[in-house]
Amino acid sequence: MDIKILHIDSNHPLLWNQLQNAGFINHSDFTSSKEEIESKIQDYQGIVIRSRFKIDKAFLDKATNLQFIARVGAGLESIDCEYAESKNITLIAAPEGNRNAVAEHTLGMILSLFNKLNEADREIRSGHWNRESNRGHELDGKTVGIIGYGNMGKSFAKKLRGFDAEVLCYDIQANVGDSNAKQVSLQEFQEKVDVVSLHIPWTSETDKMVDADFINGFAKSFWIVNTSRGKNIVTADLVAAMESGKIFGAGLDVLEYEKLSFETLFHDKNTPEAFQYLLKAKNVILSPHIAGWTFESHERLAQVIVDKIKAKYSGQAKVAEPEKRATGIGGLFFKSKNPKELVAWYGKHLGLKTDDYGSTFWWKDNDGNDCSTQWSPFADDTVYFAPSEKQFMQNFRVNDLEGLLKKLSDEGVTIVGDMETYEYGKFGWVLDSEGNKIELWEPIDKAFQ
Ligand SMILES: NC(=O)c1ccc[n+]([C@@H]2O[C@H](COP(=O)([O-])OP(=O)(O)OC[C@H]3O[C@@H](n4cnc5c(N)ncnc54)[C@H](O)[C@@H]3O)[C@@H](O)[C@H]2O)c1
Repeated sequence: MDIKILHIDSNHPLLWNQLQNAGFINHSDFTSSKEEIESKIQDYQGIVIRSRFKIDKAFLDKATNLQFIARVGAGLESIDCEYAESKNITLIAAPEGNRNAVAEHTLGMILSLFNKLNEADREIRSGHWNRESNRGHELDGKTVGIIGYGNMGKSFAKKLRGFDAEVLCYDIQANVGDSNAKQVSLQEFQEKVDVVSLHIPWTSETDKMVDADFINGFAKSFWIVNTSRGKNIVTADLVAAMESGKIFGAGLDVLEYEKLSFETLFHDKNTPEAFQYLLKAKNVILSPHIAGWTFESHERLAQVIVDKIKAKYSGQAKVAEPEKRATGIGGLFFKSKNPKELVAWYGKHLGLKTDDYGSTFWWKDNDGNDCSTQWSPFADDTVYFAPSEKQFMQNFRVNDLEGLLKKLSDEGVTIVGDMETYEYGKFGWVLDSEGNKIELWEPIDKAFQ
């Protein structure tokens, strides 16, 4: 069957061209009103949107043949997702396409705030050469806290790897932390952090989340950056905290007032007082919702959308990020008559750096992450390899242990025991076709460093 796609916003040309080459039929309509689009949407299996209008129940009721909605952006806030899903419509977004842009923008804002780059630049242009008042701060040794550890949060944490800063994250979902950011409770987060970066969606829970109470819950004064949604922060409370010194400075790519016309915002005498303060404050950097808006993301967003549409129709689960199961060797464990002596032998003759458990090898994966592999002799009478009677046990590194164990169980693989969680990762055990026990490890390598 022909798949007809209606594009209602312009995008990078590759989106159109690649879909066309793949056999999809593209139509565009960048100008008709929502009502006009509604009157013809029943002819289409797919719609590609950016932010032109909301896709609500009324629209979806008219879209009787729609199979997917693809949004060329990170989120799907402008779509009634629940209703669309109840009609079996696939929702496609492309956070993979602009997460790097958001991460770099966030880091740029923090470094500019810390080093007073914008203010110093303005002063020089107006003929002032002030060094002492523009003395900066360093990220080194600070604790950076990320609220919302999803696509954007994780990408930002990755950028911080080269800084000697501690990185914490707070998220309502459990077990999202990784080797780039340690997940902590909100209480620990508020006790420790010096810089807060928001990467949460706009929901009923995150609306006005950063208000006076929330800000005063932090033990120290801090800097804040918001690249998520303007309404996550009560701007008047942010300004009060800047006046009192509780907040040192703010980088705001999104504003509470964004939906208002900026024409009126700048010229109207009703301009909110808090906004007027932000416009004058030296310790504030503003940008017009462009954190994810780069030349590279323009192209990448389009590519992710094409890949996901093609994947939907080729029956593949995912094109952009193929499923990874075992991602490396996590360890080799074997029985030994005298582990202590054996470890000493390897230390002396092969130069292994050993401890009571054997030796840990460090290496980097293709993304530059620090990874470790453990080599360990076990006492001959160990039961750790049971029910296998072999002299050895392999350990493989995996990404999503819980998901993998479920898939393996569905595939009829024997699972041994229950998954266990430790500070250095999650562990699960399975048997291969010859009854050899395999340990699967979703690692937190950092715990060993
Ligand atoms: N400024 C820009 O140009 C730009 C670009 C892309 C995305 N964004 C925004 O960035 C935000 C994050 O996008 P994403 O793709 O990373 O989303 P995501 O869904 O991948 O991740 C969001 C994370 O926030 C967590 N979360 C939800 N409610 C929370 C709460 N109350 N407290 C703590 N954590 C909570 C979720 O569990 C999730 O892990 C969104 O608001 C998105 O619109 C902005």
